[in-house]
Amino acid sequence: MTAFKPLVFSGVQPTGNLHLGNYLGAIKKFVALQDTSDCIYCVVDLHSLTAQLVHEDLKDQTRAITAAFLASGIDPRKHIVFNQSRVMQHAELAWIFNCVARIGWMNRMTQFKDKAGKDRENASLGLLAYPSLMAADILVYRATHVPVGDDQKQHLELTRDIAQKFNNDFSDRIAGLGVGVEMKVGEETVNGFFPLTEPIIGGPAARIMSLRDGSKKMSKSDPSDLSRINLTDDADSISKKIRKAKTDPEALPGELDGLAGRPEAENLVGIYAGLAEISKEAVLKEFGGQQFSVFKPALADLAVEKLAPVAGEMRRISGDRAYVDAVLSDGGERAGLLAEATMKTVRDIIGLLQG
Ligand code: TYM
Repeated sequence: MTAFKPLVFSGVQPTGNLHLGNYLGAIKKFVALQDTSDCIYCVVDLHSLTAQLVHEDLKDQTRAITAAFLASGIDPRKHIVFNQSRVMQHAELAWIFNCVARIGWMNRMTQFKDKAGKDRENASLGLLAYPSLMAADILVYRATHVPVGDDQKQHLELTRDIAQKFNNDFSDRIAGLGVGVEMKVGEETVNGFFPLTEPIIGGPAARIMSLRDGSKKMSKSDPSDLSRINLTDDADSISKKIRKAKTDPEALPGELDGLAGRPEAENLVGIYAGLAEISKEAVLKEFGGQQFSVFKPALADLAVEKLAPVAGEMRRISGDRAYVDAVLSDGGERAGLLAEATMKTVRDIIGLLQG
């Protein structure tokens, strides 16, 4: 039985500063996966148009995210780093997926509801179709694994739904052309062209919350800069933001159960665990019974120790624009070859006249 070759894909939008949530929830995982899998990491510039069509500095934002990937330790020679718009096959497959997916599926996406707000009729069609492009990003490489933060879970479920519907709708053609791969779906073994991609979500930092409000996710778009730690923050700002982080008056508990109903405390413990690469339980073992006046300075020291070298590397790499551009251009070429190989078969499956 043939199987899909394990391949990791993930993307980050070039909008605003990268923050600790992006770093712990996604980029650190990208780095770790390089040792065990082939990886493709993409700066998804076309997705960023759904939030803001006219950008002053999209090119520089794209370079900044690339610099963050490289500064964190992603190796662009062993793996692939590029920006989405260089590989037009993403947009081509997204169009086909727009015809596979149903409007109802898109309407149910919580991120669409949040971003569109009350005036949904006035949201761009791109915002509604966003998950279709995301599915295309992943499936144009027939990627099997996608490391992301918890907020992308629903989009990845939709990616599986799209893959499954494509595989079903075209099952006879896929079998006729002999391009299917066998895979397990529940108890059944089915034959499909696209894999049902597995999300890689989890660990103590899958959902980092705002430092000002433990019920809101840490986000690039929060108006308060005190709500997040940016990857470009210097040591003083990092310490200040942790010192000012909202907490409650209780000491830290010794066990996980004691964090129930204490979202701010749980968040800081999760951040410590993510940075130190240990479990939340292990953090509580060390700090259980301590006040925040003890825990916060320890967390600030750890955050500075782990983040300052990344920020320094980011500055150094950003200064070498020619290098960053060369990485993206080389990555784009290699990604383009893989994507075109998939699309040739997709066009055949659909019956588009080509060649
Ligand atoms: P984006 O650019 O919003 O975020 C990049 C990554 O950071 C994670 N993340 C977080 N993780 C933990 N806590 C947080 N507070 C937090 N905030 C963000 C996100 O989950 C993400 O992994 N739709 C995607 C980009 C995308 C993509 C793809 C991802 C486009 N195509 C294909 C994977 C595969 C997004 O907007 O991520």
